Amino acid sequence: MVTGAGRGIGKAIAENLAAKGVKLICVSKNPASCGGVADAITAAGGNAVARAVDVSSSSEVEAAAAELIKEFGPIDILVNNAGITRDGLLARMSDEDWDAVIQTNLSSAFYWTKAIGWPMCRSRWGRIVNISSVSGIMGNAGQANYSAAKAGLIGFTKTVAKEFARRNVTANVVAPGFIQTDMTADLSEEVQKGVTNFIPMRRFGQSDDIAHAPSFLCSEEASYITGQVFTVDGGMAM
Ligand SMILES: NC(=O)c1ccc[n+]([C@@H]2O[C@H](COP(=O)([O-])OP(=O)(O)OC[C@H]3O[C@@H](n4cnc5c(N)ncnc54)[C@H](OP(=O)(O)O)[C@@H]3O)[C@@H](O)[C@H]2O)c1
Repeated sequence: MVTGAGRGIGKAIAENLAAKGVKLICVSKNPASCGGVADAITAAGGNAVARAVDVSSSSEVEAAAAELIKEFGPIDILVNNAGITRDGLLARMSDEDWDAVIQTNLSSAFYWTKAIGWPMCRSRWGRIVNISSVSGIMGNAGQANYSAAKAGLIGFTKTVAKEFARRNVTANVVAPGFIQTDMTADLSEEVQKGVTNFIPMRRFGQSDDIAHAPSFLCSEEASYITGQVFTVDGGMAM
């Protein structure tokens, strides 16, 4: 299962996993976006279904997880990728913008992992990948809420890795740098230029640049890797 699979990085991760023969559940908020991706994967010969779930809602996630496990059995791959930004300098950041980002980007991973992780442990095989950000490692002015959520995901993942390790369930983090998606489309040309100067490779990444890392971490070859943070950022956060 990939959350936020309707667009951008999540869509690329879903497509990459599907190309490796993984049966997919594509989750997003808007039914049209995850539905479109699942349909395209199926039309290309893969196997995918879509579910619209608001990942920031504990009760929606709990109900959806129970329904999905009933329908498909234990889910063995969970990629927590759904995320939003509500940027602003700290002094002007509203409680609503703080809460929305923490709920969508951090609490969602807790909800899904709690609901899906235990059946995964019982079946003695599982892969969890949480999509963080270089902002969670380095901090980023104007993103107190986002950086806190993304840093929180790293601590959360390391704890899950320790709790689930004996059950053959791994948990790792992929931390993208600046990637060309809807999320970064609104950055002004000036900001984009400024950011690019801090990237040793001097370019924003593409969603496909990210997708290989979660795909590898979900493979059999990655079975002895857990609790790690992989930055995929053109060298930005070394
Ligand atoms: N782009 C970057 O530069 C960058 C850098 C570092 C980390 N990241 C992280 O990578 C992940 C994907 O980012 P992106 O750039 O691909 O973002 P995006 O293009 O804006 O896509 C976000 C996806 O998350 C889904 N989503 C948002 N809120 C949701 C909710 N409450 N419930 C369910 N689904 C929800 C959206 O669903 P709908 O399609 O239904 O709206 C969409 O499919 C995020 O966690 C982001 O923080 C991105």
